Amino acid sequence: MEVWEAIRSRRNVREFTAEPIPGPDLDQILEAARLTPSSRNRQAWDFVVVTDRERLAALAGVWRGAGHVGGAAAAIVIVLPEDADGSSNWLYYDAGQATMSLMVAAAGLGIGTAHAAVEDQALAQEILGYPGGYFSGALISLGYPADRPLAPIRKPNRRPFAEVIHRERW
Ligand SMILES: Cc1cc2nc3c(=O)[nH]c(=O)nc-3n(C[C@H](O)[C@H](O)[C@H](O)COP(=O)(O)O)c2cc1C
Repeated sequence: MEVWEAIRSRRNVREFTAEPIPGPDLDQILEAARLTPSSRNRQAWDFVVVTDRERLAALAGVWRGAGHVGGAAAAIVIVLPEDADGSSNWLYYDAGQATMSLMVAAAGLGIGTAHAAVEDQALAQEILGYPGGYFSGALISLGYPADRPLAPIRKPNRRPFAEVIHRERW
């Protein structure tokens, strides 16, 4: 799938088939995350990829909106440092860019993704085993859509183009 098609096809997919994601495809998605630009090129992120069924089921418990992780083929958790040296806003910006980058890469491969917040940080740390001083900034489910394949969305649920785009001045 071309980039423009992948951008238009990405949507939050919360029901997945049981089909596993081939290793090279999962690595390509992770590579897209790794290549993401970041403020001062700090790359202050680590990515924990999970495919183990029991671990995925446990991760579904970190937030009431994370139920989709339990049925996913894989999940990627973006782990961030707590001591973000005063530029923490950019840390979230960077993590958001990595999220979108990996989501578009996944869409390009026909793989659906879904966001989840992480509320229970202690549980996430216990499941994933990262050291102290870090937290889970984002949790992303991945898998093949159970409802319908990814395809460009004809009427996306978004504010109208003319309303959000301001040319030259607001
Ligand atoms: C920062 C962020 C956090 C989100 N958290 C959740 C979540 O916890 N659970 C969930 O099911 N969806 C979550 N979403 C998905 C949004 O609800 C979704 O992206 C939005 O409704 C637009 O739908 P679309 O992605 O299908 O275009 C989150 C999205 C973002 C950007």
